[in-house]
Amino acid sequence: MDKKLKLGIIGLGTVGQGVVKVLSPFDDIEIVGAAVKNLSKKRDVEIKCLTDNPFDLANNVDIDVIVEVAGGLGVYDVLKTAIKNKKHIVTANKELLARHGSELFDLARENDVIIMYEAAVAGGIPIIYPIKSSLSANSFSSVAGILNGTTNYILTKMEEDNLSYHDCLLKAQELGYAETDPTGDVEGYDAMYKIAILSNIAFNKRIDIDKIYREGISNISSLDMKLADEFGYKIKLIALSKKMNDLSGNECLDIRVHPMLVSKNKSLADIKNATNAVMLDGFPVGEVMFVGAGAGEFPTASSVVGDILTIKSEFNSNGEILPMTVCHHSDYANQINIEDTINCYYLRIKAANTPGTIGKIGLACGKYNINLSCILQKGVNDDRSATIIVITEECYEKDINLMIKDVEQTSEVRVLNRIRVM
Ligand SMILES: NC(=O)c1ccc[n+]([C@@H]2O[C@H](COP(=O)([O-])OP(=O)(O)OC[C@H]3O[C@@H](n4cnc5c(N)ncnc54)[C@H](OP(=O)(O)O)[C@@H]3O)[C@@H](O)[C@H]2O)c1
Repeated sequence: MDKKLKLGIIGLGTVGQGVVKVLSPFDDIEIVGAAVKNLSKKRDVEIKCLTDNPFDLANNVDIDVIVEVAGGLGVYDVLKTAIKNKKHIVTANKELLARHGSELFDLARENDVIIMYEAAVAGGIPIIYPIKSSLSANSFSSVAGILNGTTNYILTKMEEDNLSYHDCLLKAQELGYAETDPTGDVEGYDAMYKIAILSNIAFNKRIDIDKIYREGISNISSLDMKLADEFGYKIKLIALSKKMNDLSGNECLDIRVHPMLVSKNKSLADIKNATNAVMLDGFPVGEVMFVGAGAGEFPTASSVVGDILTIKSEFNSNGEILPMTVCHHSDYANQINIEDTINCYYLRIKAANTPGTIGKIGLACGKYNINLSCILQKGVNDDRSATIIVITEECYEKDINLMIKDVEQTSEVRVLNRIRVM
């Protein structure tokens, strides 16, 4: 009979307890012990050896694999110790990988162990391993997705129930979709970590997360939702990474997270509530989309246990590391600045309802080489102001910024929102 694979689990919260439950039928896998913060907390699962010091597991010679489902950056030194002690790692920790993945992967390579992290991006959706294995023949031109369930839930509720951002955030908190401090989700940090990880594997480059442009959804109003709908769009928080050439013709990556108006005829527009989706465009495969639960006890445990079983299957054959599980690249991507990106834009403008205002906006667009796709005044407001909607054709971000500065020089024009269009 094959040798049992022995695990140490750091964290017995939502995901950790799911992992223990899902592992129960696998009698060739043994949980040697688990680490938690609070030893006296009541849990749904029983573990014979519980510690509040995760280094006990990292230093335990009986353990083959550390399953890190605690989260945060505090476990960085624990994982380094475990790797130096020749333990393989399975982690769901997107922030740690996005910030310190390079150091951890280098250390893992030096110590002949692997780091598996399917659950770190899009929870239950298999995406990391498929990119590294079934899609490995491809050269990708872009990865785009809805990678944060909380924000997608809030935006869906705003759209369907015509409620404000704040009302929908409260509803998401009541239902447990959003944390008490929702910053990580609503300001786009969570999606930023995930697109950094996806860019790393799709484009075989290391990513500097400090160079990723990030904007959250707190500035989206129900009026923007309504207007977007009238013009044939939905508003989604999109994480995007695409190959392009910079102004000097050098290949670079355009990586960012921000809300976008997504045309209703694109598949990403149909992704509702807490569902996640990842769209890849590559050659020879073309466009492929992965959709499913981006979080939750069992979907996330499905990915974590899948990683554990992948390591187990390797142990059973010849003990060598699967080539696709190893990180092979060490050079950093040339990441383009948001000012140099090209987009179409939706602008919601509040202006005095005076003759010539639309003309001034049109002239400012012309001055910065911005072609218009649409310019429309939505009647006259009670305070005699006008709401004017502009949708542009593709132009440089730096040009739209100059154009906005230019029109706002006249006191009667204010650009209240600017959203990029997909
Ligand atoms: N929840 C999801 O659906 C989901 C989806 C995808 C990825 N993830 C990722 O999975 C990880 C875990 O998420 P979660 O939702 O399960 O978190 P959680 O419910 O807050 O659980 C965290 C667990 O880690 C333990 N812990 C925290 N710091 C620790 C430390 N220094 N030493 C030992 N144990 C420690 C906590 O102990 P106590 O119980 O004693 O407090 C708790 O059991 C995170 O990286 C998260 O981003 C989660």
